[in-house]
Amino acid sequence: MSNNTIYQTDLQYMFQNLDSSEKAKLKNASILITGCAGFLGYYFMSFLSEYSEQLGIKRVIGIDNFKLGKPKWVTELSQSNPRVELHSADVTQFTSFHAKQMGDVDFIIHMASIASPTFYRMYPLETVDANVWGLRSLLDYYRDKDIKGFLFFSSSEVYGDPFPNYIPTPEDYRGNVAMIGPRACYDEAKRFGETLCYLYAEKFRMPISIVRPFNNYGPGMRLHDKRVPVDFAKALVEKKSIVMHSDGTPTRTFCYVTDAIIGYLKALLYEPFDYFNIGMEQPEISIKQLAQIYKEAGSAIYHFSPSIEFKESEEKSYLTHNPSRRCPDITKAKTLLYYSPAISVTEGVHRFLTFLKEEGNIH
Ligand SMILES: NC(=O)c1ccc[n+]([C@@H]2O[C@H](COP(=O)([O-])OP(=O)(O)OC[C@H]3O[C@@H](n4cnc5c(N)ncnc54)[C@H](O)[C@@H]3O)[C@@H](O)[C@H]2O)c1
Repeated sequence: MSNNTIYQTDLQYMFQNLDSSEKAKLKNASILITGCAGFLGYYFMSFLSEYSEQLGIKRVIGIDNFKLGKPKWVTELSQSNPRVELHSADVTQFTSFHAKQMGDVDFIIHMASIASPTFYRMYPLETVDANVWGLRSLLDYYRDKDIKGFLFFSSSEVYGDPFPNYIPTPEDYRGNVAMIGPRACYDEAKRFGETLCYLYAEKFRMPISIVRPFNNYGPGMRLHDKRVPVDFAKALVEKKSIVMHSDGTPTRTFCYVTDAIIGYLKALLYEPFDYFNIGMEQPEISIKQLAQIYKEAGSAIYHFSPSIEFKESEEKSYLTHNPSRRCPDITKAKTLLYYSPAISVTEGVHRFLTFLKEEGNIH
């Protein structure tokens, strides 16, 4: 187990926040995770691995095509725990051949899809394929197998740029999304992925849940990933200015990774078919306010107080169709999943930066 104090207390927090009936469902389970080497994969794989014995988990099988690199932690995890298997595979090529190699599974978590806008714009067709063909391959193979849960990672981006009267945004808001433009490969692929899930749940009675994550951040993010929370962290690690590529006015709520993963696991273990916003309801803060939180945390943890600057992104389409507000209504997850995220953005940023400092910034 990593000696990182944040890592340890984060995994404990996740364990404590699952109830006993949820934990019981994981007993003897084999869990397949696609996109296991990404940001969310880090704590998903780590948590399921570290608690595999205590929870009685049989196997954790990770698949990734390592398109954005193969992090050291993923190899180390698979080498240190015989219950963890790693497969280098593209989920769009998933066939019964692969599935048979992996053996029977009880739960499938389909996360494979580049999530950083900078990188999905570099690989737009691959992004569509992972969310549509990759998903369809998994659904086709598992539709007549005896599985207990299937979780599809959609996104809050299915809402596009919501009209002001749909902030906070509930699940039944249908969205204001551009089907033509630099973000469409991601947003529309997630939307179509949700439709596929709905159809397979209806037609084949598959135990599918969909989650729509709202701006997660924390340990596991690659420093060069280009999403705002890690870009700001990278600036502190490298003792440089915090650079905003917008005027700082767009607003978001930010959900620390542990609170997010608890929500995803609860959704995975929930039946029947349903779809959930997972994130923090408040505070809805501007990017400028987030930069200030990083600056203050940076002073405390790195003893360095950066300036906050604005610089146009080198990527021309960086701000095209960028939603001006993003804030979830999570009443449904609270009511049906007993979901209650609790880590404030200030605390989360402190945890993230402390994690990076302890790691020697290897992520
Ligand atoms: N992190 C967030 O805040 C957030 C927000 C909304 C949605 N999501 C969704 O959650 C999921 C995980 O997000 P993340 O932040 O960990 O993403 P990430 O970009 O950090 O990681 C995605 C992983 O998927 C892998 N991958 C991509 N295409 C693949 C393919 N065809 N076959 C196999 N592996 C493939 C990549 O190599 C990468 O390791 C994604 O589906 C993403 O769209 C995340």
